[in-house]
Amino acid sequence: MALVITVAQQKGGAGKTMLAANLAAVLATRQKVCLLDIDPQRSLMRWHALRESQSKPLPAITFSDVSGWRLKLEIDRLKKTHDVVIVDSPPQIDTDAKLAIRSADLVLVPLQPTPPDLWAAEGTVALATSEKRPVRLVLNRAPTASTLRSIVERDIATAGFTLLTATLGNRAGFANAFAQGMGVTEASPKSQAAQEVRALLTEIDSIVTEAVR
Ligand SMILES: Nc1ncnc2c1ncn2[C@@H]1O[C@H](COP(=O)(O)OP(=O)(O)O)[C@@H](O)[C@H]1O
Ligand SMILES: [Mg+2]
Repeated sequence: MALVITVAQQKGGAGKTMLAANLAAVLATRQKVCLLDIDPQRSLMRWHALRESQSKPLPAITFSDVSGWRLKLEIDRLKKTHDVVIVDSPPQIDTDAKLAIRSADLVLVPLQPTPPDLWAAEGTVALATSEKRPVRLVLNRAPTASTLRSIVERDIATAGFTLLTATLGNRAGFANAFAQGMGVTEASPKSQAAQEVRALLTEIDSIVTEAVR
């Protein structure tokens, strides 16, 4: 049965779709990956379509955008035929997002290091916690060090939320790779951005291993 990773955060522009795409790309080198886009904006669908039209051979990633009353059945169906299902959710906790969180083995909540992003993350973390789903915050577009980052990290700790050690910087490489239907590990494997994504995967692997033990 597949591992389900749901990327959720009520704040638009926090990096959900970028994170889902990059995780899918790096995971696709070793496992059968499916992306499930339940955001009506369908940016991940656009990314996947760009990927399919790439002349460069890339590891296959399956795509689905089934939502609504068929969503639960669709997740169960995809789990049977993949190793990992990554769900990209809309910028609000609607019925679909709730179901995707409930179905997740791991909920990832990207946030830029600003108070509004953290405030928006609170509802998602609360929901995942009430559903007894493991949930981790991921700092995105994070400067190496800044007063704001320190403040947000302190507030995350005070709230009792768990933040991944791995962070993603504000790098043009993420947007450039996305525009080509690729992850940064494919478009620029030696870049800092690619190293960050690989470090993120290593940390996710250890969380999953820990949970199974
Ligand atoms: N770490 C990053 N570095 C540079 N640009 C980023 C980064 N993360 C996201 N972006 C850009 O920010 C915008 C919003 O990201 P997106 O993943 O669409 O957010 P969400 O899905 O949460 O609404 C996109 O244009 C994306 O390319
Ligand atoms: Mg999105």
